[in-house]
Amino acid sequence: MPPRQEVGSAPAFLYIVFVRVHPWVNPNFYKLKNSYDIMERIPIKDAFKETKPVLLKGWVHETRDLKKVRFLILKDITGRIQVTGIDGKTDAKVFDLLDNLNRESVVQVTGTLKECKQAPKGKELIPDSIEIIAEAKNPLPIDASDYSKTELPLRLDNRFLDLHSSRTQAIFKIQSTIGHEFLNYFIKKGFTYCHTPSMIGASSEGGTELFKAKYFDKEVFLAQSPQLYKQMIACSMENMVTITPVWRAEKHNTTRHLNECRQLDIEMAFSDAKTVLEEMGKAVQHIVKKVIEKNAEELEILKLKLKIPETKYLTFAETKKALADSGIKIPSDDLTPEAEKKLDELFSDTIVFVYDWPMKGKPFYIMPKGENVNANLSEGFDAIYKGVEISSGGQRIHIPELLEKMLEIKGMDPKDFKSYIDSFRYGAPPHAGWSIGLERFTQNLLEMSNIREACMFPRDRDRITP
Ligand code: AMO
Repeated sequence: MPPRQEVGSAPAFLYIVFVRVHPWVNPNFYKLKNSYDIMERIPIKDAFKETKPVLLKGWVHETRDLKKVRFLILKDITGRIQVTGIDGKTDAKVFDLLDNLNRESVVQVTGTLKECKQAPKGKELIPDSIEIIAEAKNPLPIDASDYSKTELPLRLDNRFLDLHSSRTQAIFKIQSTIGHEFLNYFIKKGFTYCHTPSMIGASSEGGTELFKAKYFDKEVFLAQSPQLYKQMIACSMENMVTITPVWRAEKHNTTRHLNECRQLDIEMAFSDAKTVLEEMGKAVQHIVKKVIEKNAEELEILKLKLKIPETKYLTFAETKKALADSGIKIPSDDLTPEAEKKLDELFSDTIVFVYDWPMKGKPFYIMPKGENVNANLSEGFDAIYKGVEISSGGQRIHIPELLEKMLEIKGMDPKDFKSYIDSFRYGAPPHAGWSIGLERFTQNLLEMSNIREACMFPRDRDRITP
């Protein structure tokens, strides 16, 4: 056995004295010894476990002055803590500052936690020091407190501040889970996470809902969808998944439309409408389950109780009949907002998949029934959840000649889609997919009346800032 190393030997002693602590070598040692400069910031949620002094950094949520006792509620993204100053006990400067903090200012506080039955989570922080890192101007342009009554347009004008509020943070923490779990679900199944271009040469969804942009000496469009690219990817890399921004130049300013939104898309090779529909049902159930598990606190803030949805499959014809039986008439090729609401009444907490959709109501790339260009019905579908369309998709046309004919029927010029059509000439399997609107899904899941609540920085007809 090797001899044990001597602890406290002469060389170790000399090392400590001359290298670590001697002022000639380490002039900071004495300065740091009793200072919080050597401490690292910890998140508020972790502070409750600490018995040692802690350094916290965050925002002033609230202050209260009871003359002899002053409170500060400090918040960071992980939680809130009560900081308590007592006249005569707390350092006079710190006690004074507790009465001079503007809401939402950024501060750092050092101190030690103490049991306190009345304080949230049963503990309060007894402060040794408070420093203002960045002062917030007073008064604030909006009320970002828990009881805010500020109207949505003003909140959106000041979204940077609205994002301080626990309600707004709850929405986007849940949206983070939605996006993350969507990717997780499909990546675990072997899908490849891909990225498609935002500038495109031709419309992918048809119609005139395109934003034009100048691209050197050419004109390009902002992508309405990753549609054409996800198909090309599926025809080589099989199963793909993406989350991508899309732009729609829709002129109407509604509570369910944005001019820029994000889409959760998948595309699967050797697949059909039925297979991808079933995938959507399972994926949405997975996402809702994870939101329930991971975002209990946020759901509590929003006062929501979520259920994992059931799934229901109806043909367009069956849907039309069920609606007619309930007194709702719909056009021959689409559902109306009123009809979507009714479906939620008929099948609550259920994703209603409406398939065998009339070809007239679907884009040119959706496969007509039986690969027959004259078919009335298509392999396209929509998914309705909580009274609103959250997704559409279907099997695609992978046969170039059929695609050319369908483009002509839809009044489009196949020449504008040459590279897309040509990509199916070199070994393209049947494929299918769908897209869920991220903000639309978040809005409905969280039962919000306006989609702008579910978009951090909405772009609509009237809003391009912040
Ligand atoms: P669609 O145009 O139906 O299909 O869009 C799919 C989903 O995206 C969301 N969405 C929107 N959300 C907010 N504002 C908008 N203006 C907006 N437009 C669409 C909705 C909608 O259900 N390429 C096809 C999908 C596919 O076949 O894979 C497509 O984009 O939730």
